[in-house]
Amino acid sequence: MHQKERTRKRENTMKALVINGPNLNMLGIREPGIYGTETYETLVQICQDAAGDLGFDGVEVFQSNHEGAIVDRIQEAYGSVDGIVINPAAYTHTSVAILDALKAVSLPAVEVHISAVEDREDFRQISYAGMACFARVTGEGLQGYAHALKLLAEKLAK
Ligand code: DQA
Repeated sequence: MHQKERTRKRENTMKALVINGPNLNMLGIREPGIYGTETYETLVQICQDAAGDLGFDGVEVFQSNHEGAIVDRIQEAYGSVDGIVINPAAYTHTSVAILDALKAVSLPAVEVHISAVEDREDFRQISYAGMACFARVTGEGLQGYAHALKLLAEKLAK
């Protein structure tokens, strides 16, 4: 076992990381007919409230418009968080790098999408990141993140 992982195991706390990909910082402005009128700040609040209710000791909500920054954040999660909720946004459908990063750290991960991607364009039908996730939540709006954190908490309790 890697040193960072050993230290993490001793801490006996439950920490979650929520990762949001490009354009999710534009929630409230961006295509409200698809993504709603609530802002990114509301999304952060929903994640913090849900994580508290579910017994997580901490949650970080991270957003970046840059693929490499998302890869970096996933790598940094190794040994410091217990599980990941990820909405890679457009990178869902393109990024083998994000898939490989999730596989590299091998942390339990849940894929989440605000919209029902399965009912949208053909190019949204492939999910690379999803191949490294044990569950997927779609079409539940911002509350889908609370659902995804619940699935993660249940998985970590096992
Ligand atoms: C999204 C769906 C993606 O296809 C899209 O590129 C996004 C948001 C969602 O949350 O519904 O940016 O991940």
